[in-house]
Amino acid sequence: MDYIIRPPLERDAEGVNALRRMPGVFENTLGFPAEPLIRNRERLASYDPNSHQLMAVLPREDGTEAVIGMAGLSVHPNQRLRHSAGLGIMVHRDYQGQGVGSRLMEALLDIADNWLMLVRVDLEVFTDNARAIHLYEKYGFQIEGTRRKAAIRGGQYVDDYIMARIREDA
Ligand SMILES: CC(C)(COP(=O)(O)OP(=O)(O)OC[C@H]1O[C@@H](n2cnc3c(N)ncnc32)[C@H](O)[C@@H]1OP(=O)(O)O)[C@@H](O)C(=O)NCCC(=O)NCCS
Repeated sequence: MDYIIRPPLERDAEGVNALRRMPGVFENTLGFPAEPLIRNRERLASYDPNSHQLMAVLPREDGTEAVIGMAGLSVHPNQRLRHSAGLGIMVHRDYQGQGVGSRLMEALLDIADNWLMLVRVDLEVFTDNARAIHLYEKYGFQIEGTRRKAAIRGGQYVDDYIMARIREDA
């Protein structure tokens, strides 16, 4: 599959919106079925120096690109937390299980390790999201604890794990 990883462009808004409200994706993130396009337009049009996003896009024959995945780091703006960031990732349901998440993770962790020199990267993941937990463990994240009834999903309150990757050598 001939996709590329690059930073987001304003023209990605519709693809991002579709991804964030896509069945097979949004249930396991904090996405919302009624996610409005304007929210993604505004986020892509504004600049937050603490937010670092990467997109996986597949070129189409007509010259446009399909957004097939995205991942991001949010560095904590507080001076005493600036060694740490939160991580989020999602891959289009038709492209899951084909290595896209791994490539996004490697590109994002290169930024975290070598260009931001972060010590701690953390995330929350639902306790039954086995594929995501496997991906995170593959890249050195460890479970730190469980938050009970942490989020709403499909009419239920569900638990999540806090996972973190610590660079002991930093
Ligand atoms: C989680 C997600 C980002 C992973 O991306 P992906 O492109 O599917 O992941 P990859 O194909 O790179 O890797 C998947 C890995 O999980 C493994 N895997 C697949 N299904 C699995 C399962 N049910 N249990 C455990 N591991 C599983 C694969 O074998 C692969 O491992 P490997 O690289 O050691 O062979 C993606 O599936 C997704 O977007 N899911 C919906 C949204 C989501 O859950 N986001 C994360 C919220 S915390």
